[in-house]
Amino acid sequence: MTDRFPLAQLPTPIERLSRLEKALGVGPLWIKRDDQTGLALGGNKTRKLEFLIADALAQHADVILTAGAPQSNHCRQTAAAAVRAGILCELILGGAPPPDPNGNLLLDGMLGAKLHWTDRERRLETMAGIAAERTKAGMRPYVIPYGGSNGVGAQGYVLAMKEAVVQMKEMGIAPATMIVASSSGGTQAGLALGARLYGYQGRVIGISIDKGERGPERYEEELAVLANATAEVMKVPMRLTADDFHVDYRFLGAGYGVVGDVERTALRLMAQQEGILLDPVYTGRAFGAVLQGEKEGPGGVLFWHTGGAAALFAYAKDVME
Ligand SMILES: Cc1ncc(COP(=O)(O)O)c(C=O)c1O
Repeated sequence: MTDRFPLAQLPTPIERLSRLEKALGVGPLWIKRDDQTGLALGGNKTRKLEFLIADALAQHADVILTAGAPQSNHCRQTAAAAVRAGILCELILGGAPPPDPNGNLLLDGMLGAKLHWTDRERRLETMAGIAAERTKAGMRPYVIPYGGSNGVGAQGYVLAMKEAVVQMKEMGIAPATMIVASSSGGTQAGLALGARLYGYQGRVIGISIDKGERGPERYEEELAVLANATAEVMKVPMRLTADDFHVDYRFLGAGYGVVGDVERTALRLMAQQEGILLDPVYTGRAFGAVLQGEKEGPGGVLFWHTGGAAALFAYAKDVME
């Protein structure tokens, strides 16, 4: 394990969703509140950033660069983490600046991040160009990949699984399935490696948010590469293969960030039965999958709430439709 720069309030609680269980007539449902990690409205990236920021500091970085969608939760948490570490932050966002910034984008600005806009497909290229310029100017840039998903960042989710295993033991529960939104992969890869390391016997199912089943490279292969890079960083001898990953591709709807009935129903039910806010892009879709059948395994389901509610304000129209 590499060094950790403390940013998150841990452990996050595991709660029983009793009212939802009753309303739906289903078996035990639990929620792991990683929306409550505490850094500038929280979310899953905070756990990854603890390791990424420590690595940046070890490399004497003075500016952090990362990229994402305009409503990226990862970019918002990175901007906040950089503030806490006393490092500048520059964000490379796909698209054009909207006239009225809202949601995560509003917060990026409040947190003092410098924003660069570029074509969606050119974000990585633009980021590499800016990094080169900063280096030329005598600065020390530290580049964080999409979603903080590399072997350093995913350590946060290996430890999150360890944390959950301890909590489940204390609570006397053993959910047969865990469900998590999966996109850049670090969260699911870390959880799967953590499950193997710390003895979680159930299945971790990733709900694909943006990748089809037949991409240029199978997503399960990407997840295995990521998990193995994480194992290498942590110096543990374990290795995973694509077959160790379960991904459900049935909930892609009309594409990334397009809110449909699945998400709207999930958002409304969780808010109105439990007083918990999901987000329109990731956890709305992933909990929608739980509602549409992923809940049906024996032994109950633990849903990882990975945050993102800050984006609700930017999706107000789609959410209320
Ligand atoms: C709220 C939320 N949940 C889940 C994810 C997916 O996590 P990962 O990118 O590690 O697959 C993201 C990624 O941006 C997110 O913002």
